[in-house]
Amino acid sequence: MDEKIFSENTLEEKKLIELAHEARKHAYTPYSGFQVGAALLTKKGKVYLGCNIENASYTPTNCAERTAFFKAVSEGEREFAAIAIVGGASDTEAKETCAPCGVCRQIMREFCDPQEFRILLEDGKGGVLNFKLEELLPLGFGPENLAR
Ligand code: THU
Repeated sequence: MDEKIFSENTLEEKKLIELAHEARKHAYTPYSGFQVGAALLTKKGKVYLGCNIENASYTPTNCAERTAFFKAVSEGEREFAAIAIVGGASDTEAKETCAPCGVCRQIMREFCDPQEFRILLEDGKGGVLNFKLEELLPLGFGPENLAR
C-alpha cells in the first residue's frame, strides 16, 4: 500500500475511521461501558473490523485492536498498512482520541513494520491523527530480536 494514501488523502483516513465507528457498535462492554472499535487495513486493501469484548472474569477481555488483528491473522493475513481506532463511553460518539493500550501496540509490533504501519485516531476536533507505530512504540521488542 502506498504510504501517501494516509499522509495526503484525508478521505481515506476518514473512511477507515468511519469503519472503526461501525465496528464499535458491536462492542460488548457490560463492565466498563467503554466501547472501542477498530478497522485494520491490509496492504492489499482489505479491512478487518474489531470491537472490545469483555468478560465477567475481567482478564479474558479482548481489546478492539486485538480482535481485528486476530480475525485477520486467523484468515491468513500477515501484511498490514494501517489501523483506525475509536473509543469512548457508550453514551458518547467517541470523537475524542482513544490511543491503543500497550498490549495492543505490542501485537501490532509482531506483524507490522514500525516505520510504515499507521495508527489513525480521532483528534477530538473532527480531524484525524496519523502516527507511525514507531512513534507510539519506540525501541520496541519484535520478532527480529529472537532471530537466530
Ligand atoms: N480497550 C480497547 O478495546 N482497546 C484499547 O486499546 C484500550 C482499552 C477496551 C478494553 C476494555 O474493554 C475497555 O476498553 C476499558 O479498558
